Amino acid sequence: MCGIIGIVGRTAVAPRLVESLRRLEYRGYDSAGVAAIVDGKLERRRAVGKLRALDEHLAAEPLGGTVGIGHVRWATHGAPTEANAHPHASGRVMAVHNGIIENYAELKAELIAKGRTFESQTDTEVAVQLIDQYLSEGQAPLAAFQSALARFQGAYALAVLIEGEDRLVLGARRGSPLVVGYGDGEMFIGSDALAVGPFTNRVAYLDEGDVVAIDDTSARILDAAGHDAIRPVRVIPASAALVEKGNYRHFMEKEIHEQPDSCQHTLAAYVDPVALKASPPADVDFKALNRIQIVACGTASYAGLIGKYLIERIAGLPVDVEVSSEFRYREAALSPGTLAVAVSQSGETADTLAALRFCKAQGLVTAAIVNAHQSTMAREADVLWPTHAGPEIGVASTKAFTAQVSVMAALAVAAAAQRGRIDAAQEAHLVHVLLEAPRLISESLQVEDTIREIAHELGRARDVLYLGRGAMYPLALEGALKLKEISYIHAEGYAAGELKHGPIALIEEDTPVIVIAPSDSLFEKTASNMAEVIARGARVIMITDAEGQRHAPPGARVVTAPACDPLIAPLVFAGAIQLLAYYTAVQKGADVDQPRNLAKSVTVE
Ligand code: AGP
Repeated sequence: MCGIIGIVGRTAVAPRLVESLRRLEYRGYDSAGVAAIVDGKLERRRAVGKLRALDEHLAAEPLGGTVGIGHVRWATHGAPTEANAHPHASGRVMAVHNGIIENYAELKAELIAKGRTFESQTDTEVAVQLIDQYLSEGQAPLAAFQSALARFQGAYALAVLIEGEDRLVLGARRGSPLVVGYGDGEMFIGSDALAVGPFTNRVAYLDEGDVVAIDDTSARILDAAGHDAIRPVRVIPASAALVEKGNYRHFMEKEIHEQPDSCQHTLAAYVDPVALKASPPADVDFKALNRIQIVACGTASYAGLIGKYLIERIAGLPVDVEVSSEFRYREAALSPGTLAVAVSQSGETADTLAALRFCKAQGLVTAAIVNAHQSTMAREADVLWPTHAGPEIGVASTKAFTAQVSVMAALAVAAAAQRGRIDAAQEAHLVHVLLEAPRLISESLQVEDTIREIAHELGRARDVLYLGRGAMYPLALEGALKLKEISYIHAEGYAAGELKHGPIALIEEDTPVIVIAPSDSLFEKTASNMAEVIARGARVIMITDAEGQRHAPPGARVVTAPACDPLIAPLVFAGAIQLLAYYTAVQKGADVDQPRNLAKSVTVE
């Protein structure tokens, strides 16, 4: 939800800012902008739309300097116009911001009363004007910055340039992430390790409330109480610094095809392939638990729902799943012995983080299943259960989802073994099943020709329904979300048995209905639901295995996935729904990696 970068460097800063913003574009792409200190003066360039618009602007009007800041925006306050694009400027200050200053209206009124005028509708301009106000009242740069921060309510990560301070960038974080990059005679701050990845692999993650001042060689970090603080510098793995599409057209396509690997890497951390035992990286006493409460948003919540089906069935442990945006405000009644589990790719999603903190404040033990291992959730949860999907850049989550599901499946086996629901032989069998998943996922992706043909038809649809039963029901929800977010076709996922209670009224001649139906114990029930929609004119697209294909109704298009154990069916059947969404979007000419109105990481409410 907006990405920021700040550089105190030794070479031309504008191309470096743009290079970094390219890696941050997954966070927002409504507008982009950069600013630099050029001959002692602040200068900026901004452009509405994707980064290439800023590139063109910079080609026409180059920006000099070696010290600068940059921003990609996902609009919250104010439309995506140039006036609302960052960096915002006032007097001696230019700044970029990720987050929301909630009390901006009150601060704006105060500044207007002091005679200040505003050129944008943003909360960020209020922040910039307030810093400038304190400077104009005679405060030193760092003090003025801190005075302003003390007035802000809400969430922010900021990077600030101050005229007259030629080799300085100020930064701060509260509620939105910020890292410090340590280079060779140059320093960086950015929204994540990817942002500083082109320049350094030595990174420190700031804590909540930290303020930082970087110059050519050092970072002075002050904690929330204003005391000098040291944050450990880590060497980040090359995978975090490398984000290229390779031979793929889109990151989403690449990430779909990375799933055999990402699933394998993730499972490798959760099972012992020699002893054939489930061995999660952080110990939780599942015997002592009465319940698991999962909180998550979007795709991650569907991974959580799949976890519910698997954990309850295999381990007999009750699991509740709720979207974080509801959970955080409804004063949920939590019972002792509940483990709260946040599921998140980014580890920064504002609602999920708030839900996690709520559970912690209620005295629950908390766990985080996250892909960004240095994220706020990863650091605040008592237990870290990492996914090893590597950086996910496509806004539509794919490999992070299956990595989350892999963790859920492995935890189901671990919990079942600990709670005595399965014996050693059954555990060994289920671990063996888990270990087969990467190969079967790889096989499941060999259906691109069929999917391309179907996508051609789907692209013309106005509405698409997805049906599934059991753990295939959350997958139906996920399939519908994927199609909506990247192809802009209206789609809904339903529990197949629920159709006749209302949604069947939506079926018209030729309405596409995608049915996810492995040949499991529920197959016949789902087959009846398929017959019901076919009788009403629907065009069924059935995702099934070879056995299911033998029972496909006449006229149904079939996508065949490999046969597998129900434990890993959500992993093996995910590829087909992802590819269907992907090729439909490609066929419609949509911007797959940067769909309209979305951002990868939602760090505002
Ligand atoms: C997935 O395709 C979505 N773009 C979105 O639903 C996402 O899963 C959600 O915003 C949660 O993000 P997180 O996993 O980073 O918390």
